[in-house]
Amino acid sequence: MPRPRSASSRRSQSVSSPDDVRLAADALRAGDARADALFDRLLPPALRDVSDDYWTPAPVVRQVAAWLREEGIGTIVDIGSGAGKFCVATALLTGCRVVGLEHRPSLVTAARTLATRFGVDERVTFIAGAFGAVPTPPADAYYLFNPFSEYTFDSAEAAGDDVTFTRETWQRDVDAMTRFLAGLPVGTVVVTYNGFGRYPPRTFEQTRVDVSFRGALRLWTKRAAPPRPRAVIRT
Ligand SMILES: C[S@@+](CC[C@H](N)C(=O)[O-])C[C@H]1O[C@@H](n2cnc3c(N)ncnc32)[C@H](O)[C@@H]1O
Repeated sequence: MPRPRSASSRRSQSVSSPDDVRLAADALRAGDARADALFDRLLPPALRDVSDDYWTPAPVVRQVAAWLREEGIGTIVDIGSGAGKFCVATALLTGCRVVGLEHRPSLVTAARTLATRFGVDERVTFIAGAFGAVPTPPADAYYLFNPFSEYTFDSAEAAGDDVTFTRETWQRDVDAMTRFLAGLPVGTVVVTYNGFGRYPPRTFEQTRVDVSFRGALRLWTKRAAPPRPRAVIRT
């Protein structure tokens, strides 16, 4: 995973006027090329700086949102929700209830602030805790953007986050995710962007894919039995 840029590269402090919020939401809805820049301005500087590497880009959220609408998804859980960009942007583009689960307390705080700032906090909530250590809520769909890699943040807010990343924690989390997916009800949808370290269990059929982004975006649907042969478009 690319490392964040240094603190010296940070731009000015975040802004939060109602006009800035409206501009960002409008750009996102319109598919405006400035959507990411306008949206990221509403994040704290240290989190804005890592957006390119760590948070889902606006065009990817728009594609996911279109799929969620077409699939009739009511609730989606973002496992490893970071600064809340995917959750808040998805709420702005769909009628979904969105839950983010994130193990860094500083990011949960930032994400809640972002949801409030955009006025979607009634539909967007965040759970503070590590995947597997806190219950993952039931949902129609789950979103995974490469959640288990090492993420570091060069900021005072992140100094209190008590998280460790090792080869062992990565293996533990990928194994736990595989077991979690295997236990989901038939019909559950999983969307992966850049995967989570392994393909989902064979009972998941890849039913949609978009390889036009920096990483592959895939939608998987849980079946009663594994589809044969498994259709996976590799990039
Ligand atoms: C690539 S970021 C994606 C953020 C968000 N989903 C988005 O697209 O805007 C992955 C996030 O997963 C979080 N994370 C990593 N391991 C985790 C774990 N075991 N439990 C919960 N969150 C985790 C990281 O702190 C990071 O914020």
